[in-house]
Amino acid sequence: MTDGGADARSAHLPVMYAQVMEGLHVVEDGTYLDGTFGRGGHARGVLQRLGTGGRLLLMDKDPEAIAVAEQEFGADPRVAIHRGSFTDLAHWGAAATGLDGVLFDLGISSPQIDVAGRGFSFGKDGPLDMRMDPDSGESAAQWLARAGEAEIADVLWQYGEERMSRRIARAIVARRAEQPITRTAQLAELIASVMPRAKPGQKEIHPATRSFQAIRIHVNRELADLEAGLDAALAALRPGGRLAVISFHSLEDRIVKRFIARHAKAPAGNRRLPAVEEFVPTLRAIGDAQKADSTELAGNPRARSAVLRVAEKLAEPRP
Ligand SMILES: C[S@@+](CC[C@H](N)C(=O)[O-])C[C@H]1O[C@@H](n2cnc3c(N)ncnc32)[C@H](O)[C@@H]1O
Repeated sequence: MTDGGADARSAHLPVMYAQVMEGLHVVEDGTYLDGTFGRGGHARGVLQRLGTGGRLLLMDKDPEAIAVAEQEFGADPRVAIHRGSFTDLAHWGAAATGLDGVLFDLGISSPQIDVAGRGFSFGKDGPLDMRMDPDSGESAAQWLARAGEAEIADVLWQYGEERMSRRIARAIVARRAEQPITRTAQLAELIASVMPRAKPGQKEIHPATRSFQAIRIHVNRELADLEAGLDAALAALRPGGRLAVISFHSLEDRIVKRFIARHAKAPAGNRRLPAVEEFVPTLRAIGDAQKADSTELAGNPRARSAVLRVAEKLAEPRP
């Protein structure tokens, strides 16, 4: 279940570009929101498909992403830019007027992983930060300095499916009693030191991969943000508007899959209970989950963990 998202960013075209463009079904004078601007690979594609009457709204939590958006698209009268979480899209006037498409390309961007100073990478030493928005919430170092052993173990298990979660949590708590854990290399080495060696023939990933993913998901409240963002997107979409979400691990994809199913299909009835109100679908799934195609995988095998789901908002039934 580890996250290939960050690695998948190294290719030139953004992940699943053609499928995203097709899924969003951009119309010339429509209004679209890219809630995860990153470095604008998908945004650029949407903009190319918009006419002079179209609108493109760009959001990102990360101030560096927003600076790139301002620099590259700030002068385009069709574009509006807002720094913040996509969970808050309802509070942004530009997005509240109705959207014809919403894209969430989840996870972290390659600049976030590549710059050691952001603290996301176990491969590059840097301050142990991991916040997409460095001005909000606790850094990974702050959280690891105060969280209880059981809480750390739970996060590693739930968000990283790390089987050695208890052992790693115990080692973190023992180490921090001697010295604060403030660097990515320090944490990566500590984790590696308590992990069993890979057996011969066993696929080897860095021993800190799962733990770093888990801590990042926790520090950025990624799953709670996704749940709230999907609700906000559905509320802001116009009938016929499209929702496209790219996930990079099973925890995210499960949330997206269940969200679409909950709004598209009547829940299974229970014969022992009286029938509740008639179910009215608000979404229609557009096809099944999509994976990167063989051409993209051949050029960028790390896109293998990307899963795209697309749904369309339905019109409210007439009374
Ligand atoms: C995978 S990158 C997006 C790449 C982008 N599609 C492109 O083509 O360059 C994910 C971006 O989403 C941002 N992000 C993640 N969660 C967010 C949230 N809840 N609200 C706003 N931005 C978020 C991250 O800061 C990161 O810049």
